[in-house]
Amino acid sequence: MIFLICLILFIVPTIAEDNCNLGVINILNSTVIPESCKEILARVRISSGIQDAKLAEIFKNVRKIEGVLEIWNSDLIEITFLSKVEEISGDFLDKTLSIVNNSRLEKINISSLTIVNGMLRIVSNPLLNLRSNCDKLQQLYTSDRVINNNLDNCGCDIHQTITYTNTEIPENCTTIYGKLHFDGASPPYSWLKRLKTVTKLYGSLIVENTNLETLGFLENLKEIISDEDSANAILIQNNEYLERFDLLSLEKVTSKNPEAVITFNNCYACIDPQFVRVLVQSNLDVWFPQGGYCDSSKINYPSQYCNGSILDIPDRCTKYIGNIVYANPDAEYFWNEFNTTHVSSKVLEKLKNLEQIYGTVLFQGTDIEELLLPNIEEMYQISYSDSYSYPYTSFKELEVIKLVRNVNLVKFEIPKLKIAMQQIAFEGNGNFTVDSEMCFNMTLGMNSKFYIKTEGYKCYELLRLELEQKEQTN
Ligand SMILES: *[C@@H]1O[C@H](CO)[C@@H](O)[C@H](O)[C@H]1NC(C)=O
Ligand SMILES: *[C@@H]1O[C@H](CO)[C@@H](O)[C@H](O)[C@H]1NC(C)=O
Ligand SMILES: *[C@@H]1O[C@H](CO)[C@@H](O)[C@H](O)[C@H]1NC(C)=O
Ligand SMILES: *[C@@H]1O[C@H](CO)[C@@H](O)[C@H](O)[C@H]1NC(C)=O
Ligand SMILES: *[C@@H]1O[C@H](CO)[C@@H](O)[C@H](O)[C@H]1NC(C)=O
Ligand SMILES: *[C@@H]1O[C@H](CO)[C@@H](O)[C@H](O)[C@H]1NC(C)=O
Ligand SMILES: *[C@@H]1O[C@H](CO)[C@@H](O)[C@H](O)[C@H]1NC(C)=O
Ligand SMILES: *[C@@H]1O[C@H](CO)[C@@H](O)[C@H](O)[C@H]1NC(C)=O
Repeated sequence: MIFLICLILFIVPTIAEDNCNLGVINILNSTVIPESCKEILARVRISSGIQDAKLAEIFKNVRKIEGVLEIWNSDLIEITFLSKVEEISGDFLDKTLSIVNNSRLEKINISSLTIVNGMLRIVSNPLLNLRSNCDKLQQLYTSDRVINNNLDNCGCDIHQTITYTNTEIPENCTTIYGKLHFDGASPPYSWLKRLKTVTKLYGSLIVENTNLETLGFLENLKEIISDEDSANAILIQNNEYLERFDLLSLEKVTSKNPEAVITFNNCYACIDPQFVRVLVQSNLDVWFPQGGYCDSSKINYPSQYCNGSILDIPDRCTKYIGNIVYANPDAEYFWNEFNTTHVSSKVLEKLKNLEQIYGTVLFQGTDIEELLLPNIEEMYQISYSDSYSYPYTSFKELEVIKLVRNVNLVKFEIPKLKIAMQQIAFEGNGNFTVDSEMCFNMTLGMNSKFYIKTEGYKCYELLRLELEQKEQTN
């Protein structure tokens, strides 16, 4: 019996497929695709002598084309008959969809298409405006695509590793498809100038071994969408003269490769706080440059930030660059016996204004009873080493907040913190303990770049243990 069911299950789709296996087929007015064929197996060719309305009728039930679709030299003005097709899964090595030399074609609708494999070619359709299809085409075909010589292409489809020697960048490009790769001698200004108009880069940005001093020619670049085969969405290394990045408009970096990283290697350029935010919020792993944060002479919009003594910062300042350190050396050496360092309540009041801190907050052996950061949203410590060490001690692990042996501590609050680049750590703060409820509060819904360490345990571990215990008791 089971055998019979298997046999039927096996045979039925085969029969349907046979029926819908159309082979190489030139679609004519007289072509009929059986009503039952939601899926066809075919190399479909469409050329002159047929109109879109007729095609819509012929293809009205087709949702999937297993094969390729060629629309060449047709008289079509519109292609709407594809608007219900969901999948064109053709020959992996061939073009799944090619729309070439259609002299009257003005627009296409592929709004249902979600699965394709193979390549795309949309070429030499002089009246075709693809503007409204660009996002869709981008989702479907990232790299295996050639789109050019249409009335409006989806940006500058260069689709190769773009270097000064192999590529002429077209004028007025706002979107570039291709990997932007600088290696060796810097291109002349006339070439770099062409990049000033670029706002979107579908591909990676690699700058290595150049004598560039700035990447300011990309000052209008807003978004980098790195492709699936780039291991680095951004890679900047060995540029001896590079002092600043000047990617003034960059807002977003994403990658189609979930493993992709952002790497600055042998790079001592200082980094702008805003650039750090963009990189961290990309959710890709980032290896920051070794130059640290820029001082205000090199920062874009320096008046947005403050530094220096906490007591001197103006009340309107919400973005602080630097480490906020109140550390008592005796608390390092004399574990149990030390006189606490007094921290003025004015300091603690000032901290309440801050929304972003580019550095670490450290209280060690002080007399504070509470640390309340009601407005803090983002904290970024980008050093790998103990560069924020203060006299008498250094850390192996880095933190954005570290509270050590503040024996009177009873309260700690960070209700708005969304992103912490590095850990939050507690150690021997009197009777203050971080329990799983607090861990839960601090980690819930937070960015994955948020770590909490408490008394040697990570909050996540605490939460995991608690979950395990709950499961065991159930
Ligand atoms: C198909 O039909 C259209 C209009 O219905 C007609 O203009 C065209 O010539 C026909 N093509 C062929 C190849 O018969
Ligand atoms: C494209 O086709 C879909 C599905 O048939 C339809 O809902 C949509 O309105 C069409 N888009 C345009 C711009 O005509
Ligand atoms: C498109 O037209 C050009 C020039 O007429 C021709 O060389 C080419 O083969 C045509 N391509 C297709 C796919 O028909
Ligand atoms: C580029 O833009 C400038 C200024 O808008 C315009 O004068 C020029 O003709 C454009 N070039 C091309 C090739 O479209
Ligand atoms: C704050 O920044 C200015 C400008 O970069 C710098 O000159 C000054 O030394 C900094 N102050 C402190 C205390 O770091
Ligand atoms: C704490 O302060 C008192 C008074 O100044 C002093 O006598 C004592 O030695 C200090 N203790 C430590 C451990 O430094
Ligand atoms: C910590 O707890 C102990 C024992 O309950 C108590 O004697 C001590 O006063 C507490 N310390 C503070 C700072 O609350
Ligand atoms: C956790 O968050 C809830 C809701 O915001 C709050 O009532 C509670 O006091 C918090 N608990 C701790 C330990 O922070």
